[in-house]
Amino acid sequence: MKIVVTGALGHIGSKLIRELPRLHPGCEVVMIDDFTVQRYPSLFDLPDGARYRFIEGDVIKLELPPVFEGADMVVHLAAITNAAGSFENKDRVEYINYNATLKTAEACAKTGVPMFYISTTSVYGTQEKLVDENCPESALQPQSPYAETKLREEKLLMQLGRERGLDFMICRFGTIYGASPGMRFHTAVNKFCWQAVMGQPVTVWRTALHQMRPYLFLDDAIRAMDFVLSKKLFDRGIYNVLTMNATVNTILDAIKMHAGNFNVEFVETKIMNQLSYEVARTKFERLGFVFSGADSLQKAVAGTVHLLGNANCARAK
Ligand SMILES: NC(=O)c1ccc[n+]([C@@H]2O[C@H](COP(=O)([O-])OP(=O)(O)OC[C@H]3O[C@@H](n4cnc5c(N)ncnc54)[C@H](O)[C@@H]3O)[C@@H](O)[C@H]2O)c1
Repeated sequence: MKIVVTGALGHIGSKLIRELPRLHPGCEVVMIDDFTVQRYPSLFDLPDGARYRFIEGDVIKLELPPVFEGADMVVHLAAITNAAGSFENKDRVEYINYNATLKTAEACAKTGVPMFYISTTSVYGTQEKLVDENCPESALQPQSPYAETKLREEKLLMQLGRERGLDFMICRFGTIYGASPGMRFHTAVNKFCWQAVMGQPVTVWRTALHQMRPYLFLDDAIRAMDFVLSKKLFDRGIYNVLTMNATVNTILDAIKMHAGNFNVEFVETKIMNQLSYEVARTKFERLGFVFSGADSLQKAVAGTVHLLGNANCARAK
C-alpha cells in the first residue's frame, strides 16, 4: 500500500500520517509539504511500521507524476486554510489553492491514482434549515474567498473526471475538532480552547452564538479517509462529512467544563451571516460509515485543553 499526502504536516495531515502504519502495516507514506506553515514537529517521533518519505516542496512546482506513480490514493490537503483571514490575501488563496488542486488532480489523472479531495461545508450559506449535497446552486453561497475557491476546485475535479478520467471523492468536511501535532488554532473549537486556557476573552462572531454549524471530529476525518481508501469509493461524488451540527454555545459549554470560566467577547467579521443551518451527512452514512457520538466533542476539548494544561499557571482549574 502506498499513500501520498500533500500538506502532510498540517492539522489533519500530521494525525493521518501517524495513523496510517496502524491501519496499513508496512505501508509507504509519501509526505509533501512546503512549510507554508512551519511545522517541523509534525515529523518528530513518527511511529514505526511505515516506510516514510518526506518531500519538501510546493505541489504547484514539483514534478508530481513520478511521486504519485503506483500509489493507492493521494490525499490532497495542501492549501492555505484560514477562511476568515482569506479576505486579506484573497488573490494568494485563490492562486495557491486552485493551482495546488489543479496540479495534484492532473498528476492523479495522468498516473491513474484516485484522489481524496477535502472541500468544506462552508461552501453552504443556505436559507434552508437543513442542507444536503443535492441542494440547488442557490444554496451554495460561500462566505469567504477560501470557500469560493473550494467550490471552483470541486467543479475542476468534476471536469477532470469527465475529460481525463480522474477518479476522486470530494468530502465537504465540517470544522475539525481534536488535537494533532501539527494543529493550528485559527478554527473555532481550537481557537476557543486556546483563548480560554490563556485567560483571554473568547472571541465569538457576533451572529454566531446560537447558529447551527457543522463540525467534524479529527478521528472521524481520519477514519473517513481510510474508509474511502479501503472500500475504493472514488465514485466522483460529493459527500458531506461531519460528526455533528452544533452551536458555538454548545462548544463553549464543553470548554467551560475543562478549562473553567472565561469571558466572551463578540466581534465583527466579514465571514458571518445571519443564517443558521444544519448540514446532512446521510449520503456518506449510506455508504456504511458510522460517525462518533456527540461525546466526541467533550473528549476532543478535554484533549486540547490538557495539551495546554500547564501553559498558563493563572488559569482557574
Ligand atoms: N481544519 C479544518 O477545520 C478543515 C475543515 C474543512 C476542510 N479543511 C481542508 O482540509 C485540508 C487540510 O486542512 P488542515 O486543517 O490540515 O490545514 P493546515 O493549514 O493545518 O495544513 C495545510 C498544510 O499544507 C501545506 N501547504 C500549503 N500550501 C502548500 C503547497 N503549495 N505545497 C505543499 N504544501 C502546502 C502547509 O504548509 C500546511 O502544512 C485543507 O484543504 C482544508 O481546506 C480543513
